Amino acid sequence: MGASYRAMGPSHGGTCRSRAAPVDPGAMTSRLEGKVALVTGAGAGIGLETSLAFGRQGAKVVLVDKDEAAAESGAEQLRAAGAEATAIAADVSRAADCERMVSGAEEAFGALHVLFNNAGISHMDDADAVETDEAVWDLTMNVNLKGVFLGCKYGIPALRRAGGGSIINTASFVAVVGAATPQLAYTASKGGVLALSRELAVIHAREEIRVNALCPGPLRTELLMKYLDTDEKRQRRLVHVPMGRFGEAREIADAVVFLASDESSFVTGSTFLVDGGITAAYVTPE
Ligand SMILES: NC(=O)c1ccc[n+]([C@@H]2O[C@H](COP(=O)([O-])OP(=O)(O)OC[C@H]3O[C@@H](n4cnc5c(N)ncnc54)[C@H](O)[C@@H]3O)[C@@H](O)[C@H]2O)c1
Repeated sequence: MGASYRAMGPSHGGTCRSRAAPVDPGAMTSRLEGKVALVTGAGAGIGLETSLAFGRQGAKVVLVDKDEAAAESGAEQLRAAGAEATAIAADVSRAADCERMVSGAEEAFGALHVLFNNAGISHMDDADAVETDEAVWDLTMNVNLKGVFLGCKYGIPALRRAGGGSIINTASFVAVVGAATPQLAYTASKGGVLALSRELAVIHAREEIRVNALCPGPLRTELLMKYLDTDEKRQRRLVHVPMGRFGEAREIADAVVFLASDESSFVTGSTFLVDGGITAAYVTPE
């Protein structure tokens, strides 16, 4: 439970210090007490780390993933640690699955207060406008953008029934800055998530429903590292990151806990960047 952010190895181009003051787990167990939280893409990466963090903070957690075994394994970890958790297999690009995951959360735990629409894909054949196949475009949009829409479509009525809540939609830093290492469908889908989240925040602001777009910077998760399989490719990105390293899923989870909790009660419609400074940089340190 300690905040041990693993330093990246030298091959990843830098080191990172652990936090200045260790966090006392005993003092940190009730930030989400009484809340029911649903996480999509909960089987790995950001979704898994956030599910575990939600559970540590007292939430009842519904782990949703198209990979049923991965979602179940996360739920099992939470239950073993004493939290309440359940797993639901669902593909967020399918309306019937999204309707079922929301009703499943309400059936399991009586309400839904936190909706983390986080599942996303990054296709190996996603490139520029000329090279990207229509099928790759459609698949990426269906999971990354339509999946968030469907989560909100079925989740918002549940949050209303609960008297309000917090929606966090995972966009990306690429919704804010362009890259000459293109993934056009991915970037466009994340731009859509950012705009959709902003508008929903405004629509639902007086219903006690907050909506924020989480924009992680480049992270050391499977989604990105499957491309960055050489030092050269990693350095091509890291030169743009002021902190000189990739982020960890755990560091994103900490931000999501804040957005999910009542500590962020006046935060809505935000482009919530957790990006090592990449979107702020012109010339980075040597
Ligand atoms: N890793 C990064 O550098 C980075 C940066 C910015 C944004 N993001 C975004 O963060 C989110 C999570 O990324 P990650 O790095 O944790 O990815 P990951 O690949 O480690 O995990 C993604 C999880 O989502 C699940 N998933 C994929 N498609 C699904 C679908 N249709 N329905 C349900 N579940 C599905 C996968 O099975 C997997 O468990 C994504 O939306 C991604 O675009 C990632």
